[in-house]
Amino acid sequence: TFAVTEACIRCKYTDCVAVCPVDCFYEGENMLVIHPDECIDCGVCEPECPAEAIIADTAEGAVRWVELNAKYAALWPNISDAKDPPPDAEDFNGKPDKFENHFS
Ligand code: SF4
Ligand code: F3S
Repeated sequence: TFAVTEACIRCKYTDCVAVCPVDCFYEGENMLVIHPDECIDCGVCEPECPAEAIIADTAEGAVRWVELNAKYAALWPNISDAKDPPPDAEDFNGKPDKFENHFS
């Protein structure tokens, strides 16, 4: 599976949603997650994210993000269409420690 990391938080560009062939993204208030049982590992979303928020489960440090994605994919609603990012998305692109400071 692939997983969304904290780099997505408050950016939510949703370019990933636009390209995913199986619509396996789920939307929280400040970030998206991937359902690990639905992701077919095609890798198409990874280079599309302007915040470089998507990683493969084989990437270093991926385990906590795969677990977080699994947890919230079960709780949040599916998102199948791209939408406008928040107006201040650019301010948050590349900011460190977003999970600690801005996750909700
Ligand atoms: Fe969707 Fe493919 Fe990305 Fe998995 S790797 S979330 S199937 S676009
Ligand atoms: Fe988030 Fe990147 Fe998708 S910022 S919503 S993972 S395009």
